[in-house]
Amino acid sequence: RTTAVILAGGTGQRVGLSIPKQLLKIAGKAVIEHTLTTFEKADSVDEIIVLMAPGYVPDIEKIVSKAGFKKVRKIIEGGSTRNETTERAIAALGEGLADGEDLNVLFHDAVRPLLSQRVIDDCVTALERYQAVDVAIPSADTIIVTRTHGEDGEFITEIPDRSRLRRGQTPQAFKLSTIRRAYEVAAGDPNFQATDDCTVVLRYLPDVPIHVVAGDEYNMKVTQPVDVFIADKLFQLASSATPEQNGEEVYRELLTGRTMVVFGG
Ligand code: CTP
Repeated sequence: RTTAVILAGGTGQRVGLSIPKQLLKIAGKAVIEHTLTTFEKADSVDEIIVLMAPGYVPDIEKIVSKAGFKKVRKIIEGGSTRNETTERAIAALGEGLADGEDLNVLFHDAVRPLLSQRVIDDCVTALERYQAVDVAIPSADTIIVTRTHGEDGEFITEIPDRSRLRRGQTPQAFKLSTIRRAYEVAAGDPNFQATDDCTVVLRYLPDVPIHVVAGDEYNMKVTQPVDVFIADKLFQLASSATPEQNGEEVYRELLTGRTMVVFGG
């Protein structure tokens, strides 16, 4: 069985609205409603749990009942960091599992509303072979590592080989027993700090290989104000898609059909 965990415990400080960004309406629906629709439609997902920013659980309950989502089993409050939110999800999972039975768990950022069915399916398939799976895309930008020297500002210390660098997206998918064990080991580390769940497996269960599934360029995270406008535009374009088309095909087709006007020389 596969459970999707929608991480919506954040308040969206960088977007800076008076409501959490997952409740912002884009293309006629709250961001999180787009995300929930994707998992509701996914044949490979059996149930969904939502971890919501404290104080906003009733907003999600309203969205779920109005949209008539059938797979949403639980809506609970998130923690004060993303990892605390994950830990709460883990604590709420696995009820009713028989001895020796495991569960596939897909942790997904509520604020990545453009996730494709292809990526969900690839994650679930990868869990047949691996206990931990990440989703990533190549980095178009060169990534530099810096150190700050007081008032003189930042300086480069390293420029890693771009061909090996990837940008991590979500879902991050695990066997429940594996991610639970990773967090149990992490609990014994007084310096525990992470911003995602694969880091917890990599650091505390170093023998577990983490398989990487190809993500999508448009599986963007609404993080900064500009992202709201980009996501809105992508939804407008994608509304012309047939259900069988994936995002990559939609955007490629739209681009091919476009009349290019070249200005100047
Ligand atoms: N998240 C969470 N619990 C937290 C913090 C974040 O479940 N305590 C979730 C967010 O709701 C989001 C995802 O993790 O879906 C990615 O995090 P991010 O983009 O950093 O969201 P926010 O923490 O809301 O944004 P900001 O850092 O700008 O405040």
